[in-house]
Amino acid sequence: MVAISLEHVTYRYPLGTGDALDDISFHIGQGEVYALIGGNGSGKTTVCNIIRGFIPQFYKGTLTGSVMVNDKPVSEYDDAELTQIVGYSFQNPFTQMSGVKDNVREEIGYALENLGLPREDIGRRVDAMIELLDLQEMADQNPLELSGGQRQRVAIAAVLVTDPQIVILDEPTSQLDPQSTEDIFNIIKLLKNQGKTIVLVEHKIDLVAEYCDYALLLEEGRVAMGGPIRDVLTDPKVMDHGGQLPQVARFFIDRNTKLGLCDPIPLTVQEAVEFKTGRGN
Ligand SMILES: Nc1ncnc2c1ncn2[C@@H]1O[C@H](COP(=O)(O)OP(=O)(O)O)[C@@H](O)[C@H]1O
Ligand SMILES: [Mg+2]
Repeated sequence: MVAISLEHVTYRYPLGTGDALDDISFHIGQGEVYALIGGNGSGKTTVCNIIRGFIPQFYKGTLTGSVMVNDKPVSEYDDAELTQIVGYSFQNPFTQMSGVKDNVREEIGYALENLGLPREDIGRRVDAMIELLDLQEMADQNPLELSGGQRQRVAIAAVLVTDPQIVILDEPTSQLDPQSTEDIFNIIKLLKNQGKTIVLVEHKIDLVAEYCDYALLLEEGRVAMGGPIRDVLTDPKVMDHGGQLPQVARFFIDRNTKLGLCDPIPLTVQEAVEFKTGRGN
């Protein structure tokens, strides 16, 4: 099943000088991990907000084209229904906190309270999220007193707690150290194994190469490149469109230019090691 589909989507913010998105089309199948990559201002966050219906509902502006989630136009969902299907963690974790809850435990359970779940279910689900995101130490703290990295993890917990089919993570690791970043990617892997569809906006391209199935590279509101992660992230043209390539791919592309053939180009450290061992035989 197609989880998310955009066809010829063009969008202009109310005060925008030009189109933020210009004729964007792509499809994301159920259970795929899809990376949205591209330079600053290329339109990644705008795409996320369109998928979750926030554009045009709150931002207004002019949206044309078709936006579907689970084969139904986003505009035909009622809010509660769409929020249960699509979970979204904001690019800026400082804006994600509700501001009405005075401890992390309640902050994580807030969405479930709004859904009217029984107390004990809420407690159980919140505990599972605290464990998953390793938040035990801050469970009783005020969300507004946390550091950026801590808020980012709480924000992700607050999104995953409702168990959405589609998870959109807009730069979820921007405030995190390398260890916590790996932890988030491991959670992404776990979500994938549960069959969830994931849209990930992420600049840490080596990890994108390792964990994502597909990539869509945006440039100035247009799709510059898109396809299976290997095809996109071993193609030197990525760099002409404001994107980055994984270290391993860059190394082998460079080596190919100097020494000739290495096909296919290794994408991850693991593949580079296998390539080297294979040659030694
Ligand atoms: N609220 C807004 N009003 C007007 N223009 C905006 C607004 N938000 C973003 N834009 C513009 O839309 C374009 C895409 O922005 P955005 O989706 O935030 O890019 P990215 O997430 O890739 O950095 C940029 O040119 C940006 O300046
Ligand atoms: Mg953004």
